[in-house]
Amino acid sequence: MKKQVAVLPGDGIGQEVMNGALEVLKAVEDHYGHQFKVVQADIGGVAIDHHGTPLPKETLEACKQSDAVLLGAVGGPKWNDVPVEIRPEKGLLGIRKELGLFGNLRPIKTFEALVDASPLKQSVVQGVDFIIVRELTGGLYFGEPRERRGKNQEVAVDTLRYEKKEIEKVVRKAFELASKRRKKLTSVDKANVLESSRMWREVVDQIAPEYPDVEVEHLLVDVAAMKLIYQPNQFDVMVTENMFGDILSDEASMLTGSLGMLPSASLREDDFGLYEPVHGSAPDIAGKGQANPLGMVLSVAMMLRHSFGMKEEADMVEAAVEEILRTGARTADLAGNQIVPVSKTKEMIDLVVEQMKPNYAMSGILAAYL
Ligand code: IPM
Ligand code: MN
Repeated sequence: MKKQVAVLPGDGIGQEVMNGALEVLKAVEDHYGHQFKVVQADIGGVAIDHHGTPLPKETLEACKQSDAVLLGAVGGPKWNDVPVEIRPEKGLLGIRKELGLFGNLRPIKTFEALVDASPLKQSVVQGVDFIIVRELTGGLYFGEPRERRGKNQEVAVDTLRYEKKEIEKVVRKAFELASKRRKKLTSVDKANVLESSRMWREVVDQIAPEYPDVEVEHLLVDVAAMKLIYQPNQFDVMVTENMFGDILSDEASMLTGSLGMLPSASLREDDFGLYEPVHGSAPDIAGKGQANPLGMVLSVAMMLRHSFGMKEEADMVEAAVEEILRTGARTADLAGNQIVPVSKTKEMIDLVVEQMKPNYAMSGILAAYL
């Protein structure tokens, strides 16, 4: 199969983890005889440096002409003082909006080998496997007006605005997912306070009869935050508005041991999608070759699965990640305070790629005899 992938490494560790992800993509190519044409483009701070804007037209064009987009991370202290309209994050928000990527899937799955890496008790995190579906192109992030007012600019306004049809789209996506999983949908809102949340709840209840086998639960966001820590196993699919989803997904990442492990997919109604790790550009460790590349690698697997329909290929990448963790490979973020040998980004990638080689098992057996 031939596919074109727009590759936007971005800033900080974005570049480092993307280099690794591309090696994994190459390994999939070799293994299955696919052809992935990679088109690189700038986004975020690096795009401000090269083009004066965090989302150049060329970048958007490259994405639109591709079958999927891989993104590393954006932002960093270097661009702290640029005007708000061109901050690196604007590149990320802009690309989500321009490409119509309304549905953000953030799977939260603990790896058996990493149950020790979570700061929470093993009994709490064991077997956790759910997906947060975050609405990505509406709500507080995009509502107008958003401005400073008053004689001395002493008033600041953001607007939480949703149209019914925006909510319907993302809620349907979540129901679809739940109906293919354990058939439980938790809708998270703040309906005891917010008008937009009351409408959100109404939409969920209107769509629910179309999915009679899916059990629906409504949770207030504060209660959801508490239950994520105290009983995370009760969740299967959680759907929520943009900012609640942003906050809850960072919280939930700690169940898996590290934010560095989490992939995400940002989807529109067709197969097209943008895939990025949930972590940011981590300026504190950028350039040191220490970053955990597995969130990015697992994002590649999500791309193979969702945009290209390559289930076997995606399974293979995910299995390779699982296996190297099982054999004890750890980047610094996964080591916690245990005394274990720590691998650098490149070593982790080499291990994943090695694991994906068709004759890996055989060569191991042969090596034992030689
Ligand atoms: C995320 C990030 C972004 C967001 C920032 C960088 C704008 O935190 O993808 O979760 O808030 O959406
Ligand atoms: Mn976030």
